[in-house]
Amino acid sequence: MEKKKITLIVSLTLISSICVGALLSVYFTFLHHYKGKIVKNDWSETDTFDIKKIKTIKKEKDKDFVILNLADIQICDLENFFNKETIHKEINYLVEKTHPDLITLTGDQTWSNENLMSTKSIISWLDSYKIPYAPVFGNHDYGNKPNSAVCDINYLCDLYESGKYSLFSRGPSNLGSIGNYVFNIVEENQIVKTVYMLNNGTVDSFTSEQMKWMKWTSEGIKAYNNDIYSSGMVFMHKPIPEFRTAYQHYLVDHSTSVGIPYINWSLSGVDGHQLFDLSKDVNITDIVAGHQHGNSFTFNYQNIRLTSALKTGECGGYYEDKEIYLKGASTFTIRNDKVNINRVFVPRNTFKM
Ligand SMILES: [Fe+2]
Repeated sequence: MEKKKITLIVSLTLISSICVGALLSVYFTFLHHYKGKIVKNDWSETDTFDIKKIKTIKKEKDKDFVILNLADIQICDLENFFNKETIHKEINYLVEKTHPDLITLTGDQTWSNENLMSTKSIISWLDSYKIPYAPVFGNHDYGNKPNSAVCDINYLCDLYESGKYSLFSRGPSNLGSIGNYVFNIVEENQIVKTVYMLNNGTVDSFTSEQMKWMKWTSEGIKAYNNDIYSSGMVFMHKPIPEFRTAYQHYLVDHSTSVGIPYINWSLSGVDGHQLFDLSKDVNITDIVAGHQHGNSFTFNYQNIRLTSALKTGECGGYYEDKEIYLKGASTFTIRNDKVNINRVFVPRNTFKM
């Protein structure tokens, strides 16, 4: 074939590929949106609490129960297309290394607006482990700006609720945000832990309705637990101001730290004193938040442990220098009535494609 013809064919192929790519980008970014079911499920403080409506996960007697927390995976369908398999391998590594009984996800599973394929991939990876999993939403799950994502929050609820091993529930519809739910970890009919999954991804504060619902739920469970508040954990996306205060206490008294704290980026704390005060009242032992990729720590503060969850996956920023590589996951191991906290770091560059 003549050289001119080959050049023409190559050029046309290149131009048409660029055009198709650009059209697909425009389509997925601006035109195509998935809207989920709007489920009206109003809650009222006067509702009768029914323990049968609370999901349970069984803990085997005399065996550790391991919670693996994945934070800020932050995949995007377009920008991170070529990172996806690396992230999948990293999560496989974390699951194989920790043998979890439960996987929690503290929000920002995706970022940017293109979140359809990424969310579906995460759900299919999680279902493949055949382990219960429980996500909350972060700010980026809503898109670059609130409610700008290809999948709206109702559609994400539909997807997460459809997961075979998913514990996710969109919860009441009148709390100011959806995706607030609770479940119990139970050993021989005794509640070992009540796990509250709260959505503060879209707002910088918990609503008073969220707090009333959490109080109502803990009171309801208490009535089935020999009139004692069950020991609880809270998982959410954005840290509350007490995370920052606890750090300031740590600077004065290093004994408040559990493990080695890494504080590399400024500690933002969204509004949320109400959650901390309520947590003290209802026997919460641990509050776990994502959102701050450069930080990883656990501090004891006023008898509650505050954990800034280690970031998982390739996307979004994370702290890295010669010694410190802040990427992996956090584990919470329930042994008898204690919870031990650890970090699992992904080995540097092991899974990069
Ligand atoms: Fe975030």
